[in-house]
Amino acid sequence: MIHRNLPMCQAVLKHHQLLPLLPRFNIKLGFGEKNVEEVCRLNRVNTDFFLEIANAYLDEDYIPQTDLSLFPIGSVVAYLTSTHDYYLHIALPKIESKISRLLEGSNLSEKERGLVAGFFDDYKKEFLDHISREEDSVLPYILELEKQSMKEEPDSGFLRSLQNDTIKEFAQEHDRLENSLENLSKLIIKYLPPFEDFDLCHQVLTDLSDLVRDLVDHAHMEDKILVPRVIELEQQLTRKFNAG
Ligand SMILES: [Fe+2]
Ligand SMILES: [Fe+2]
Repeated sequence: MIHRNLPMCQAVLKHHQLLPLLPRFNIKLGFGEKNVEEVCRLNRVNTDFFLEIANAYLDEDYIPQTDLSLFPIGSVVAYLTSTHDYYLHIALPKIESKISRLLEGSNLSEKERGLVAGFFDDYKKEFLDHISREEDSVLPYILELEKQSMKEEPDSGFLRSLQNDTIKEFAQEHDRLENSLENLSKLIIKYLPPFEDFDLCHQVLTDLSDLVRDLVDHAHMEDKILVPRVIELEQQLTRKFNAG
């Protein structure tokens, strides 16, 4: 667990898993002696929010110290969006290029190569669909909801659209992206003939397992933090509408 007075350098040395989190907050290295709080302040990041996200990221069983509903929903959405960017522009392309290098140098049959490449292509498609749905409809809806809830008189058109059950539908259909990814690791560990380049194979498996962990944390934020907040906000707004 990390806390606000810990030197940021020490936090990252002790928990290198924090590294992919830093760009999501626009935090760059070169911390000098600054502690977590000072680095956050310098980068205009809410320290409590950073600590909650970082500690939950480090430990699945971490119990939040601060009520997460105290943070603006917009900060949660911004964090989720920058995590999507990380998946799309860094994590997935990195794994994809390593997998193709692994296949190129392998003794696998044409059929086996096709199986791995096809599996990854299907996964990427599933992934892109998942993220586009969130970015094109769910997250904009949530930001609008937050905006409307701060208005003295919310737009009547928006209030009517609350009946569309956007968030309930999302919560019901929100599938887990990590399961198929784990199947890819199983395919490599259990069924395929061993790869000659064990070091590269090791890297692929490590990258896959890091991404699985990251996705579990991400889905947790969406399902357990964002959705309940949105439901609460929808209810508040509906009550206000019915009373008015
Ligand atoms: Fe997401
Ligand atoms: Fe999601």
